[in-house]
Amino acid sequence: IGYTGADDGEQVCDVLLSGLSGLEYRGYDSAGLAVADRSIAIHKCEGEVTALEAALPDGSVDGAAGIGHTRWSTHGPPSDVNAHPHTDCTGRIAVVHNGIIENYRDLREALSAAGHSFESETDTEVVPHLLEAALDGDLDDVVRRTTTVSSDDLATADADVAGSTAVADGEAAEADGDSVDATTVREAAFRRTVACLEGSYAVAAVFAGDETVYAARHESPLVLGIGEAGHYLASDVPAFIEYTDRVIYLDDGEYARVTPDRVVVTDERGRVVDADIETIEWDAEDAGKSGYDHYMLKEIHEQPAAIRGCLRERVEELTGSIELPELTALARPARVQFVACGTSYHAALYGAQLLRDHGIAAQAFLASEYGADRVPVPAGTLVVGVTQSGETADTMRALREAAATGATTLAVTNVVGSSAAREADHVVYIRAGPEIGVAATKTFASQQVALAMVARVLAGSETQSAVESLRAIPDGIQQVLDESLAREVAETYLGAEAYFFIGRGLDAPVAREGALKMKEITYKHAEGFAAGELKHGPLALVTEETPVFATITGDDDAVAKTLGNVREVRARNAPVIAVTDRPETAGADATHVLPVPPLGRELTPVLANVQLQLVSYWSANLLGRSIDKPRNLAKSVTVE
Ligand code: G6P
Repeated sequence: IGYTGADDGEQVCDVLLSGLSGLEYRGYDSAGLAVADRSIAIHKCEGEVTALEAALPDGSVDGAAGIGHTRWSTHGPPSDVNAHPHTDCTGRIAVVHNGIIENYRDLREALSAAGHSFESETDTEVVPHLLEAALDGDLDDVVRRTTTVSSDDLATADADVAGSTAVADGEAAEADGDSVDATTVREAAFRRTVACLEGSYAVAAVFAGDETVYAARHESPLVLGIGEAGHYLASDVPAFIEYTDRVIYLDDGEYARVTPDRVVVTDERGRVVDADIETIEWDAEDAGKSGYDHYMLKEIHEQPAAIRGCLRERVEELTGSIELPELTALARPARVQFVACGTSYHAALYGAQLLRDHGIAAQAFLASEYGADRVPVPAGTLVVGVTQSGETADTMRALREAAATGATTLAVTNVVGSSAAREADHVVYIRAGPEIGVAATKTFASQQVALAMVARVLAGSETQSAVESLRAIPDGIQQVLDESLAREVAETYLGAEAYFFIGRGLDAPVAREGALKMKEITYKHAEGFAAGELKHGPLALVTEETPVFATITGDDDAVAKTLGNVREVRARNAPVIAVTDRPETAGADATHVLPVPPLGRELTPVLANVQLQLVSYWSANLLGRSIDKPRNLAKSVTVE
C-alpha cells in the first residue's frame, strides 16, 4: 500500500496499518512501513500486522506520505531484515515490492561490485540500490557490469516525462513549481530502475523530502485509489476501500506518480494515460475477498495466476526445458515415496503416478500411516513431503522418520520458511500465494503442476511437449472458470443423498479430491475412487438419487474402460456428470457434461479438477454452508 496526503505521520501510519490489515490475507509472515519526511522512518518486523503496530513508536513519526507491505516470502525466509520496505545505502529511499525479480542475482552482483552493500536475502533490495545509483548518475556503470540489462533498456526508459500533464480526479491539471523538477528527476530515476528489472513486479517507492509515491506494474496487480484527503495505491482494493471506492486499475507496463493532490498515470514511454476511474460496488466488509462471496471462490479464480507463479522462471519456451535448480544436486532416485495428508495426498497420488510413467518406482503414502506401516526405506529412496502449509504434524513426522533412516528428503510446499521447507534436504515451492479457505483449491492445482515438473526433472525425461502443455494451463483453467455449467449441475443435484466420483489413471486422484471437496464444504456424503473399483462394492449404493461424477480424460483405452463404468451406473438410473476433454464421445452417455480443454494426458486432469471445485463450491453455496470455515476442520493441522 502507498498513501500520500496526510496531515501528519500518525495519520500516514494509521492509513498504512489499516491498509495492511486489509491485505493481510495476501501474506502475513512479516510487515513493515516507511514514512517519508525530510528523512525516512522505516519500521518492520517478522510476524503479523499487529506485531508491527505494537512495535511502532508512539507519536514520533512525521511525514505526509508512506508505503507499507505484508510479505509472503519468495526469496529469503520471514525475518525482520527480509521484511519490506527495503532501503538504499543512504537510507533516503524506501521500496516495497510484490512479485519476483528474476535477474536480481545479476543486479545484486553488479551493484555490489559498484560498492553497494546489502542487508537482506530478498530480490527486492536491489531496487532501492538501483534507484540510488540512478540518482547518483551511476546506473549506466552498474548496467555495464550486468549480463541481463543493456544500455538500450535505459535509453528506452529515458523517454521524456518532464512535460507530463497531471490528472487528478479525472481532471487535467498542470504540474508546477520547483518540487516538480525534483519529482521529474526522481521519476526518471524510477523509470530507469524499473527498466533494469526482469520478472514480475508491483513496486512502489518513496524518497526523503518528497510527498510523492512512485509506482510501476508488470504482471503483479496494482490499483490506485482516488480519495478526498489524499490518494492511495495498493495491490488490491481492500487496502483502502474504507477511504475511497474510486479506483484506477493500472495495466502492465504503466507507471503512477501519486501526490497529495493528483495522480498521474503514464505508459512505458512516459506518455500520460487517460485512465478510467471506476467505482467499486462492494464495501469494506467484503474487502478481503475482492468482491467474491467467499475466499474459496476467489482462490478458485486465482488459479491461472497461481499456476503462472509456479511456472515462472521454470519453463523455458525457447529451449523447451524445465529448470528446477532446487533439484540440481539430486541424482535420479532409485525410488520415491510420497508422504502427505488430505488434498496434498491426492496431489501425491498424482505425482507418484507421473513418476511411475517416467520409469521411476514411486508410491504415495498417507503420512499418518507411514510410521504405522513401517514402510521399508531402502538406500537410494527419495522421500517427498507434499504439504501446502509445510506444518502438518503427520507429514512432518513422516518426513523426520524418513530422514532418520538416511533417506534424502524433498518438501513440496507453499510456505517459505515453514518447518517442511527448513527441515527437508531440498525444497520446491509451489508459489500459489496465500490460501485462506480451509478447503484447498489453488494449492492443489499448483501442487499438481509443481509435481509434473518435478517428475520430468527427476526422471530426466524429454520436456519439450510438457513445456507447451504446462504453459497452456493458465488459459485452460480460465476457460473452465465460466461457472454457469457447474452451477447448473450443483442446482440439479442439490437434493442428492450422496455423490460418487470416479476416474481412472491420473483421473483417479482427481475423483478422490472431488469427493473430498464435496464432503468438506457441503457436509454431504461423497466418495471418490478408481473407476474400476465401482463394480467391487460401491455399485450397491448407486441409485437414481446418487449422482456419479466421472472424470474422463487420458488415453483412448482408459477412456473406453471408464465409459464402460459409466454405462454400468446409467443402467442403475444414476445420473452421470462427465468431466471430459472429449464431450462429443465421452459425454454421449452422460446426463450432464462439464467440458475442459484438452491439454494432453498428464495435465488435463488439472483442468478437470477445477470443474469439480466449482460444483462443490456452488453446492455448498446453495446449501448455505460455512464455505471458508467448514465445521470441525482446520486449514493446518499441527497435531497427529
Ligand atoms: C488439513 C486441511 C486440508 C489439507 C490437509 C493437509 O486437513 O483441512 O485441506 O489438505 O490439512 O495440509 P497440508 O498443509 O499439509 O497440505
